[in-house]
Amino acid sequence: MHVLTILDHPNPASFSAAVAQQFMDGAKAAGHSVELADLNAEGFNPLWSMADIEREGDEAAPADVVNEQERIARADAICLVFPLFWWGMPSMTKGWVDRVWTWGWAYDQLDDPEQSLQRSRTGVLLIPAGARSDEMENDGYLAALETAWIKGTFGYFGLSPRKLEVLYGSTGSLKRRQALLEKSYQVGLTLAPPQRTK
Ligand SMILES: Cc1cc2nc3c(=O)[nH]c(=O)nc-3n(C[C@H](O)[C@H](O)[C@H](O)COP(=O)(O)O)c2cc1C
Repeated sequence: MHVLTILDHPNPASFSAAVAQQFMDGAKAAGHSVELADLNAEGFNPLWSMADIEREGDEAAPADVVNEQERIARADAICLVFPLFWWGMPSMTKGWVDRVWTWGWAYDQLDDPEQSLQRSRTGVLLIPAGARSDEMENDGYLAALETAWIKGTFGYFGLSPRKLEVLYGSTGSLKRRQALLEKSYQVGLTLAPPQRTK
């Protein structure tokens, strides 16, 4: 498979960047080709604007959006790596999702999240988070993210199967962080092929 990794972190020495690298190393070890979209290093503009509104569903979408859509078009699997910020996406990732996965290109209805205009692609979210797993589960944050992202967003984009892997305790001990990096490698190594659920 061709595996596209979307990284959102301005610091190349960050834990998130190491997670993306480990995931790609695992994917390569499994025989996949890999491609990295380092949104901050590339200076992607996440700000949704009138240009996006005027050209939605249009062949002549803004050039930076077309560039991202072409990357997606050649991918069989997509992995997003971004740190959990206030129980959601950092603004760069949010803007990338808002601007790139457009109405008329990714989806054209809001009744059935499993019906995308895009072909099926494997989807993985690898999300470093400072919180502990019991905090995220007991307080309902994990269920909220599963609903918003796995049920309510990434099906419309054709990501199937899709998986949310929260890397809990990412600000913890060196041992903890090493275990999370090993997990990221394993996720890359064991990527499932794309498959429609319906
Ligand atoms: C602005 C901001 C908001 C954050 N919000 C959350 C949060 O809601 N939940 C959480 O578990 N961690 C939160 N964190 C912690 C980060 O997810 C965590 O530190 C992560 O490891 C940062 O990525 P990095 O280690 O690659 O820099 C937040 C950190 C920052 C800077």
